[in-house]
Amino acid sequence: MIHARIIGTGSYAPKKVITNHDLEKMVETSDQWIIERTGIKERRVCEKGETTSDLAHEAAKHALHAAGIAPADIDLIIVATLSPDTHMPSMACKLQARLGAKRAAAFDLYAACSGFLYGLSTADAFIRSGMHQTILVIGAEALSRYTDWEDRTTCVLFGDGAGAAVLQRHAGKRGILSTHLHSDGSFGDLLHIPAGGAAHPATHDTVERRQHYIKMKGNETFKVAVRALEDVVQEALDHNKVKPEDIDLLVPHQANLRIIQAMAKRLNMPMEKVALTIHKYGNTSAASIPMALDEAVRNGRVKENDLILLEAFGGGLTWASALIRW
Ligand code: UT7
Repeated sequence: MIHARIIGTGSYAPKKVITNHDLEKMVETSDQWIIERTGIKERRVCEKGETTSDLAHEAAKHALHAAGIAPADIDLIIVATLSPDTHMPSMACKLQARLGAKRAAAFDLYAACSGFLYGLSTADAFIRSGMHQTILVIGAEALSRYTDWEDRTTCVLFGDGAGAAVLQRHAGKRGILSTHLHSDGSFGDLLHIPAGGAAHPATHDTVERRQHYIKMKGNETFKVAVRALEDVVQEALDHNKVKPEDIDLLVPHQANLRIIQAMAKRLNMPMEKVALTIHKYGNTSAASIPMALDEAVRNGRVKENDLILLEAFGGGLTWASALIRW
């Protein structure tokens, strides 16, 4: 049986911290509101001059080191992001050059907060098809650059960071057992950045109307998220004929502690079996799952043959799962 197996993970968060108390001085909010509604206490943001590719580069170096492979061994680099340094060249090409991954093909992937799982699924398919042997998948975001720091409904939520995983062809039972990807574009306006693309290129007007920042109808998104995540998790369990109690670790997208708790409750899973980083990083979109996974690996929470369930939900709308035999 051929599987794509994660042979190394890495992550990186910028050093600059913004606490809820810092935000109290910027918008009409409170530490109590943010903690009660989201579980977030602080988030990291890029320093001036620091970019998404800087974060991705650090995470990638850690993952390659953990995997024990050289940049020249990489066949393909996939970067999931909604906050690239530039729209051209791609982040993946920047990384290819910075790492010196001379043999690697490279592309970016847009699936917002589900981006890392879309990337994992794509890499899994390339490896199982025999097209590639070794793939670097990265989720990296500098959402602080797309955040309206005057909008209390969004600025308290997001943070910057990057996570990476090296996948390699493995003949055996360990590796990615399944991935399931979904979308519903009819809900696109629940979570979007209105301007900056071909529909509404940057003008003085789009800038004045603050149209280059993330807009979210949070409450409506919340309701769709809980329903979609319940479905996609059930789909993964049914497909693999496993029971919730078989799962050793849940690594959810870190958007809201209440959504994560609802999923854990649905799976009848104690919170000790859930990887949580939301309190210190906030919602880092495509980076949140690989950052939480890497932290779990480094803290020794992931053991050989453990069953790990990853699930994500985000703009698009998109949602996805992956089940991994570690
Ligand atoms: O990662 C991609 C997917 N994203 C998600 O899954 C996020 C899903 N949504 C959420 O996490 C939650 O909906 C939020 C955390 C964004 C908001 O929590 P909520 O419980 O849904 O609050 P709400 O939007 O219904 O707002 C409740 C009240 C409102 O005031 P009124 O109208 O009741 O007077 C808001 O104006 O809270 C107010 N509010 C705030 N108050 C203090 C909104 N933001 C803030 C704030 N501080 N930062």
